[in-house]
Amino acid sequence: MNADEAGAGWWRDAVVYQVYVRSFADSDGDGIGDLAGLRDRLPYLRDLGVDAIWLTPFYRSPMVDGGYDVTDYRQVDPMFGDLADFDAMLADAHAYGLRVIIDVVPNHTSSAHRWFQAAVAAPPGSPERERYIFRAGRGPDGAEPPNDWESIFGGDAWTRLPDGQWYLHIFDPEQPDLNWELPEVRAEFEEILRFWLDRGVDGFRVDVAHGNIKAPGLPDVGYSSKTGRNQRQSRLLEGTKLPYFDQDGVHEIYRVWRQILDSYPGGRMAVAEAWASSPERLARYVGPDELHQVFNFDFLHATWSVDSFRKVIDTALAEATLVGAPTTWVLSNHDKPRHVTRYGGGALGLRRGRAAALLMLALPGVAYLYQGEELGLDEVLDLPDELRQDPAFRRTGESRDGCRVPLPWSGHTAPFGFGPAGAWLPAPATWTAHTVAAQEGESGSTLELYRAALRLRRAEPALRGGELTWTEAEPGVLAFRRGELTCVVNLGTEPVDVRRYGTPIVASAALDGDFLPVDAAAWLKQEPLG
Ligand code: NOJ
Repeated sequence: MNADEAGAGWWRDAVVYQVYVRSFADSDGDGIGDLAGLRDRLPYLRDLGVDAIWLTPFYRSPMVDGGYDVTDYRQVDPMFGDLADFDAMLADAHAYGLRVIIDVVPNHTSSAHRWFQAAVAAPPGSPERERYIFRAGRGPDGAEPPNDWESIFGGDAWTRLPDGQWYLHIFDPEQPDLNWELPEVRAEFEEILRFWLDRGVDGFRVDVAHGNIKAPGLPDVGYSSKTGRNQRQSRLLEGTKLPYFDQDGVHEIYRVWRQILDSYPGGRMAVAEAWASSPERLARYVGPDELHQVFNFDFLHATWSVDSFRKVIDTALAEATLVGAPTTWVLSNHDKPRHVTRYGGGALGLRRGRAAALLMLALPGVAYLYQGEELGLDEVLDLPDELRQDPAFRRTGESRDGCRVPLPWSGHTAPFGFGPAGAWLPAPATWTAHTVAAQEGESGSTLELYRAALRLRRAEPALRGGELTWTEAEPGVLAFRRGELTCVVNLGTEPVDVRRYGTPIVASAALDGDFLPVDAAAWLKQEPLG
């Protein structure tokens, strides 16, 4: 094995930390996180013990959708720095042993992208319009949208130009969908992948990977409920097939992408953000000739019960085994309310959130952490409406801003060391207890819990590879073995005696003698025999 092949399978059991760049660390005092700020804080991530970081989009963008509206896929937006800052950050990350995954946004561009600008300036039927999805409207004078599709952010998925044609946007009107039937679009993204792979990135997180291909003829969905994005996603999860998501044709694209990734040394990978109507269909995104991973959002939707977690874990592991790919686990990300809040908020939410982290980090496969979960941050629910920036907020009242509040690093007043000046969203006063500085070296802090778990995960071979074996446990208790280690999660109503599982090596809450309290988890190790 040569040096390049060594570590090529790093992505199979990695812990990946999601950096929401504009809220991670600000170096220049404009209140917005940037690449230089991230670079300064890389030692923190090295010490946390993660294997890789995933950066949300930092490309040139009007930031209508937090950078998921890209105008130039090969340039850094000035608010985040420039390409030299990116290269310096990447070199440092690699020197610290951290891999770097970046977001790629292929389903849509920004409306300010030169292609869309050219399309708007060109007449209907022109090659410039071919790159997007333009159609004539229905009804008298074509005044009705071409079909009944709704935007994930609320309202119609179509917007009309003054010349009468409509264009499709599954997300915001400022995010027109590309026409992936066009070879030119495919070629462009293949070149974008190579551009970043040549710079040395270790992989990509593929945004809306299930969206690129639309059903032929763009048929009506057949209902019109004006639902918001959460309801829409649950519909998908309930098994509804939508003509703009998860069409078979998307797989052809990723088979080509896999060949590109495999043509580079060192184990370059891609993880799909995909939603499909069943676990089987989701598993089709991964495999030796497609993408390496797909996010498993079912884990994030599991309720606080043995049955729910067990079902989600069993299903995910079975699907992953079938396709020979690792499964992934996600508790929080930049689109969902933070899990501390989902689990009830306050002291209860934090207890459960810490237990869930130990559960996740004991499972086989890849764990994705979202910045701030290692600090036990909760969702900020009381942001003033005028500061909210999520485009969905204006259209549906739903907002993802509460999980995007800049990280608290130190000090006793907002923005808690985020940067030299303010922050684009205000942190609550309660975060004074959650700063990195307040938690570092404090036994029992959430940061030290994550560090301990990540250290053990690295040190214990059974946690890196290997199977999961369920252990019979008391009612309300989830227990499974990974080699000599047992992970026990108390989801019940009574403290549980954990002596029979081994000696505790890490726990999310203090044990009471031999008893693991309610809403807590522990890893225990069997003494070697003899
Ligand atoms: C998924 C991203 O995670 C989300 O933040 C974004 O709004 C949509 N895709 C559209 O790009």
